[in-house]
Amino acid sequence: MTASHQPLLTVRGLGKRFGGFTALDGIDIDLRAGERLGLIGPNGSGKSTFVNCLAGDISGHSGSVTFDGASFAGLAPHRRTWNGLSRTFQLPRPFASLSVFENVTVPLRFAGKGGAPRGAVDERARECLELVGLAAKAGKSPRDLTQVDLRKLELARALAPRPRLLVSDEAMAGLSNSEVDQILALLMQVNATGTAIIMIEHIMRAVTAFSERLVVFVAGRKIADGEPRAVLATPEVEAAYLGN
Ligand SMILES: Nc1ncnc2c1ncn2[C@@H]1O[C@H](COP(=O)(O)OP(=O)(O)OP(=O)(O)O)[C@@H](O)[C@H]1O
Ligand SMILES: [Mg+2]
Repeated sequence: MTASHQPLLTVRGLGKRFGGFTALDGIDIDLRAGERLGLIGPNGSGKSTFVNCLAGDISGHSGSVTFDGASFAGLAPHRRTWNGLSRTFQLPRPFASLSVFENVTVPLRFAGKGGAPRGAVDERARECLELVGLAAKAGKSPRDLTQVDLRKLELARALAPRPRLLVSDEAMAGLSNSEVDQILALLMQVNATGTAIIMIEHIMRAVTAFSERLVVFVAGRKIADGEPRAVLATPEVEAAYLGN
């Protein structure tokens, strides 16, 4: 099999328990390079836990995560970022004592391969702030940003290391319609350069506009995976997710 036919991400039998509670149970997912996947499910269905397992932000899961043909087992989060997987956090948590600009340089300075030169770090940070539309606010404190700008900063930080897979965890929650459209356009623009994206979102019009494929989690299990309209029309999804 050549590299181009190999999935970018292969997840097999992923399980996660918190004490006696099963948050994820036997998740299998494949993702191709450049794919746009929507991941939906009710509150508490395990979506963020899934991202945390992929990114290495929580340990002690069962099953396997393979990225670009290599196992992620035992790799620290920053090593996964070097290898090409970046995630955003559902609740943005920038360093409040650093400027917007400095926040974007952090993943480049501390997670970069062997310490990138200062000039290259600064140039990449500027590029990312330009991309998300925050260039004019580079010198501000994150404390002075609006909610949509905090989401954009979170995306700029995740995009800085040039991921091949970006996992966006509810980057649109609580935003106005026009702000949702801005984030949607940004994710489409990033995807157009070849970056695969898993978009976790509750806003259905954004999910359907974005997704080439849709996966549905209910109570830690994957109950559907396929073409979005077909997935949304299945009785299991209607009953478990949309019907209540
Ligand atoms: N660190 C933890 N310790 C204990 N339980 C946890 C922990 N993290 C998540 N859980 C539980 O695991 C389940 C899945 O949570 P998760 O955050 O993955 O859901 P989600 O699908 O992202 O929900 P939402 O749409 O509300 O963001 C929930 O019942 C949650 O309370
Ligand atoms: Mg979540």
